[in-house]
Amino acid sequence: MKTYETEHFILRAPAESDLEDNYAIMRDYDNIKYLLTDAQSREQCLAYIRYTIRKNNEDPRNEYLFAAVLKGTQRVIGSCSLSLLDVRQGGLSGVVLHRDFRGKGYGGELVGFLLRLAFEELRLRRGISSCDTRNVASYRAMERHGMRREGHFLQGRLPSKREPGFFGDEYAYGMLREEYFERGNQQVQ
Ligand SMILES: CC(C)(COP(=O)(O)OP(=O)(O)OC[C@H]1O[C@@H](n2cnc3c(N)ncnc32)[C@H](O)[C@@H]1OP(=O)(O)O)[C@@H](O)C(=O)NCCC(=O)NCCS
Repeated sequence: MKTYETEHFILRAPAESDLEDNYAIMRDYDNIKYLLTDAQSREQCLAYIRYTIRKNNEDPRNEYLFAAVLKGTQRVIGSCSLSLLDVRQGGLSGVVLHRDFRGKGYGGELVGFLLRLAFEELRLRRGISSCDTRNVASYRAMERHGMRREGHFLQGRLPSKREPGFFGDEYAYGMLREEYFERGNQQVQ
């Protein structure tokens, strides 16, 4: 699988050797509190890494799942993914950073990378995503890259194991291909 580069990251396919870094992120409640998943055990992390390896190698490919390695280190400090939903749309998701590396602009950088992949390489018409309305860092990271809030779904989220019976509110975000290029981004040939 192709490897990509941003200012601070190498984005590459996840590997089983990422297990300890991945577990350090996913076992931590603070990292997953706005995700629908629960804190993960080491075994669950390994199973997920194996799932990502399988999905990345499917043909045709619908999932682009990345480990985010901080440049200058070998350390995986986050992840991000893009799912092809149909011929028009890609769903941006899975942007998660280790708590020690949040608030430095890195999450926004990963959103920017996913948009680049969606529009410049995969040439999609639309990129979409969603988040818990309490997750300010998540929606600000999307807004920084010009994603528009398209919906506010009251009680649109399913309860997680941590908040049983709580149907949280959700924001939906979207961006069109033309909106992406109107921001001065360039199409790669
Ligand atoms: C959501 C997440 C990926 C954002 O990444 P990040 O590196 O922390 O965010 P950035 O530093 O790029 O900041 C993005 C924006 O959010 C703001 N922000 C960052 N942390 C914030 C906080 N705790 N509260 C309010 N705003 C915050 C920043 O000021 C910035 O806004 P700006 O563009 O208007 O200046 C990261 O916080 C994370 O991994 N959270 C846990 C997992 C998660 O919830 N993922 C999202 C699932 S939808």
